[in-house]
Amino acid sequence: MEPKDNELDELDELDEVLEAVEEPAHIDLVQSSQEVPLVMRPFVNSIFPVLLIDTEFRIIYANGACNNLFTGYFKLTNNLFFDVFGKSLGAEALKEIRQAVLFGNHGYSWKGSIKTKTRESGTLQTKVYLFPVIQANQAPTNFIVLFDDVTQENKKLLQSVFASLLEASKLKDNDTGKHIIRVNYYSERLAKELYNRSGYDEVDRDFIEDIGFLASMHDVGKIGTPDDILNKEGPLSEWEWTIMKEHTKNGAFILSTYPNPMAREIALNHHERWDGTGYPFQLEGTMIPLSARIVTIADVYDALRMKRSYKEAYDHKTSVDKMIAWRGKNFDPALFDIFISINEEFEAIYASNADD
Ligand SMILES: [Fe+2]
Ligand SMILES: [Fe+2]
Repeated sequence: MEPKDNELDELDELDEVLEAVEEPAHIDLVQSSQEVPLVMRPFVNSIFPVLLIDTEFRIIYANGACNNLFTGYFKLTNNLFFDVFGKSLGAEALKEIRQAVLFGNHGYSWKGSIKTKTRESGTLQTKVYLFPVIQANQAPTNFIVLFDDVTQENKKLLQSVFASLLEASKLKDNDTGKHIIRVNYYSERLAKELYNRSGYDEVDRDFIEDIGFLASMHDVGKIGTPDDILNKEGPLSEWEWTIMKEHTKNGAFILSTYPNPMAREIALNHHERWDGTGYPFQLEGTMIPLSARIVTIADVYDALRMKRSYKEAYDHKTSVDKMIAWRGKNFDPALFDIFISINEEFEAIYASNADD
């Protein structure tokens, strides 16, 4: 994907800032095995991730907690601070840090945050605090950088807001709470399976974790569907169907403020079909987001297993047999084959999370 213009500008600016930091004539970075600087001794076994830099932005020392925090993201020792964190901080932050360290802005200190991501380790968000090691009557030559990992905290906060929305929608929906939990589990399991297959680059650690929570939101739009339609025994009339189908668009609208677009994608597209006969927009094939194609398989499997007002509960084999007939029609055929390869695990998930 081409970067947008403003992103390009930002990158240019970033390069300027990085170049503006003069490289020391002799980069003689301290080896991790060398003696711990005096000021860092209290932090050696601390749970706080801390590193020490000098005015040339060399990383002098990183404690164990800091190395642990960034394992899988960055190599800290024998490196320059900006080489490690430059791309995660952004141009404005880099400028401010330079000004704090070199010119003493804001009492030689800075605070901000970094966000970084890898396919294997997912997203890491931390707050960053930089402050000087003070020596009497001298400008500081060393700076402590303290990191506070807020990844889980942010995720939980966000999820708690949407979990209450989910509770509200459950009050209206006839499907059980267990249904949405199982749909989360199946979707996460299928995504895990894709992680190791070629052709599914977008499935990374974040994707697996996110779909394992967001799949449950597929029907939140039903909060806006009239009760008499939602609870009607027997078939819906044509106009009732028209209203029923709106739950996809309503769900997308409700979830449009969720920072991860996957939430919206699932709600909007979980009734689209591979052959283009689904709703609301008759998307076909890979026009349907992968997250929604996964949830469709999970949702249909579970709907077949459950007893509903218009049908009996089918056993695992009957459900899978019915679904085989819909391969390439309702379901992405490649994805469906992967589902077939792990279908016993779907049965196990159903069994261990059965309705009371
Ligand atoms: Fe739905
Ligand atoms: Fe469902």
